Amino acid sequence: MTTRVLLKTNDPSQDKLDLLALPLFEGEKASARGVDELTGGQASRAEKGGDFKGKSRELLVLFPQNGARAQRILLAGLGKRDKASLEGVRKMTGAVIGKAQSLKARTIGIVLEGGQVQNALDGAQVAAAVTEAAMLATYKFERLKSQPEDDKPSKNGASKPVKEGDKDLTVHVYTHAKGAAEAVELAFIASEGSNIARDIGNEPANIATPTRVAEYALDVAKKARLKAFVIEKAEMKKMGMGSLLAVAQGSVEPPKLVVMEYEPKNKKAVKDTFAFVGKGITFDSGGISIKPADKMWEMKFDKCGGCAVIGLMHAIAKAELPFKVVGLVPLTENLPSGTATRPGDIVKSMSGKTIEILNTDAEGRLILADALAYAARYEPSVVIDMATLTGACVVALGDIRAGIMGTDEGLLQELKAAGDHTGEKVWPLPLDDEYGEHVKSDAADLKNLGKAGQAGAISAGYFLKHFAPAKAKWAHMDIAGTAWTTTGEKGYTGKGATGFGVRVCFEWLKRRATKPAAAPKKKAAARA
Ligand code: BES
Ligand code: MN
Ligand code: ZN
Repeated sequence: MTTRVLLKTNDPSQDKLDLLALPLFEGEKASARGVDELTGGQASRAEKGGDFKGKSRELLVLFPQNGARAQRILLAGLGKRDKASLEGVRKMTGAVIGKAQSLKARTIGIVLEGGQVQNALDGAQVAAAVTEAAMLATYKFERLKSQPEDDKPSKNGASKPVKEGDKDLTVHVYTHAKGAAEAVELAFIASEGSNIARDIGNEPANIATPTRVAEYALDVAKKARLKAFVIEKAEMKKMGMGSLLAVAQGSVEPPKLVVMEYEPKNKKAVKDTFAFVGKGITFDSGGISIKPADKMWEMKFDKCGGCAVIGLMHAIAKAELPFKVVGLVPLTENLPSGTATRPGDIVKSMSGKTIEILNTDAEGRLILADALAYAARYEPSVVIDMATLTGACVVALGDIRAGIMGTDEGLLQELKAAGDHTGEKVWPLPLDDEYGEHVKSDAADLKNLGKAGQAGAISAGYFLKHFAPAKAKWAHMDIAGTAWTTTGEKGYTGKGATGFGVRVCFEWLKRRATKPAAAPKKKAAARA
């Protein structure tokens, strides 16, 4: 299924649509927006009867009687006006799309024109938020069903079977807001990136082997005209990637290290060089330090950091951002076997540092160690890694915010601001040197395990810090709590992989693209 977003400036009541949605804040009247004229007074009756209050995600279907060419008019709640936010707009859009899907509506209109949303928030950003949520809410992972839900006749038998192509969804966004066209285009590209990440993230481990994910990345690269190649096991050995190889040695599936390279067509446009690194564990059983069976299946999502990097590289190339960017995705399974790494084993990483593997379930940091070290050869000024790294991060921040840590306060503040803007929210955790003590080993340079029951997300971050290119500013994003959902509570990402990381990083890049090259430090601090 394809989702299209069209920006429109005409009178929405004149378009032939399956569903025309009107977003309203709590207490604001649809009757005051001319809906009575289109529905024979249904809006006023609904207001009097308390049928619709405008609470966040609330919906009410009305039937046009004269004038409107839409099949249905949908009042869509935005919640309280003084709490207006882009995230609220995304949630509203998610609810509208959900309704549209249950009604099998294919053409949807969302009216931002002259509406309350634009008076409370920036119009172009609202249009972008609608675009993102529409794109994210329509994505479903149904490739492995023999009959997608959409094709099944509805319970009352009312709907016709849907022909291929008829399933495409067109969302008309009505706005005159200045800058909307560009904002919507970039939002579309970013969410396309998120869905690319989700589509591979959702694949189970028997299908999404390291080989398959690497091929997927090469395919994404080809379509976006990115350079990409895969570093194979033999080369890893030559390069001394003993840490990544230690995780891979328990599985019959060969490990892969995906390298995706982007450069703008106009080399003079290059403002900076960045590296993104994503954890790509296609299945994390824990290895010899095996996990309990309960919820172990969710560890097919342990590749979501890597998937986010793949989706992000797509978006960067499509948007033709003015940077050199390299995306690195180390891929392997973490399985127990007769050849698997044992707790206590000591290995040598590509950086030369030795690591005592005290728990084979702390494997993410092991594969990232070598990928981070590899990133140094691109001489990036900033390195950002994304990883479903620790259960401790889920305990600390839940599924609301990802944890971020790093070597540069300004970078962390930039990421936080970008996260708040996109709804992919992050929160800085401290990285004091005292935490470094937690990963010092008696027998090797480092151990892959922190102090029992203490600051697990931070000691994992500190471990990574040892491998981040020394000349780069580095940030680590622990997306263990946010990369997938088994409830779909957010209302616009549904169940499964969320694509978390793509949009926050893309927003950060967008802001860097427009930022003056050398912003005076003082100013940056004042803004933060
Ligand atoms: N992939 C897991 C982290 C994880 C756990 C993500 C639960 C999402 C939900 C990671 O590889 C892991 O197993 N981490 C261990 C580290 C520990 C052994 C130091 C953890 O968090 O328990
Ligand atoms: Mn693990
Ligand atoms: Zn893991």
